[in-house]
Amino acid sequence: MATLLHIDTSLNRENSHSRAVTAAFREAWENEHKQSTVIYRDLDAEPIPHLQAAAYYAGYTPATDQSPEERAAFALRAKLIEEAEAADVILLGAPMYNYSIPSTLKAWLDHVFAVGRTAMTENPSLGGKPAVVVTSRGGSYQQGTPQHGNDYVQSYLHQALGTGLGLDVTFIVPELTLAPTVPAMADLVPLFEASRTEALTAAETHAKELLMRLAA
Ligand SMILES: Cc1cc2nc3c(=O)[nH]c(=O)nc-3n(C[C@H](O)[C@H](O)[C@H](O)COP(=O)(O)O)c2cc1C
Repeated sequence: MATLLHIDTSLNRENSHSRAVTAAFREAWENEHKQSTVIYRDLDAEPIPHLQAAAYYAGYTPATDQSPEERAAFALRAKLIEEAEAADVILLGAPMYNYSIPSTLKAWLDHVFAVGRTAMTENPSLGGKPAVVVTSRGGSYQQGTPQHGNDYVQSYLHQALGTGLGLDVTFIVPELTLAPTVPAMADLVPLFEASRTEALTAAETHAKELLMRLAA
């Protein structure tokens, strides 16, 4: 029985493109695998607090040696790490906010990075696990566009999730999402529509492929 950890972060709960694409992935996943378990977190509805000193330093003491105070401080980190470790696939909605990721997602990452367990160890506990990141963005940052080189979502998450946690990261990028509402972008609506269709199809395809890979 496969487990999916599904995390959304968009502040837009009504018409979010990243939420639509993560939902398409999840729907395909659940249709293909009726007995699957899905752990869901909406970091906009229920944000995780910023990582603070007690929780950070408690991570340097092995769980078995932690004092009651350290264990209490580490409890949320332990829960978030265990959710990620329990998952066969991690699905993240990560819209671009001011060229980077939502701060709610950064807070989650700060908790999940645990030296000697999930990071900076020869065998990180999430190593090799597939992660699918849906990064929606209002503009385009593709080669040949004026904003090329200014996308710090993919470069950062490639480093943090891939190099840092050892996850096997795939990006799905619905872009130009502001085209339908910004008059100056009206000419770009067909490109937006194509990007959205491509992202929804990619989500469905990835969900099915990953389930096939897990079943093999
Ligand atoms: C706080 C904020 C900052 C944003 N910054 C950028 C940006 O730097 N570049 C960009 O292309 N779009 C930016 N946008 C537009 C969003 O990336 C776009 O609306 C995207 O579709 C958001 O994902 P969602 O549809 O899942 O909410 C920003 C939107 C918000 C709300």
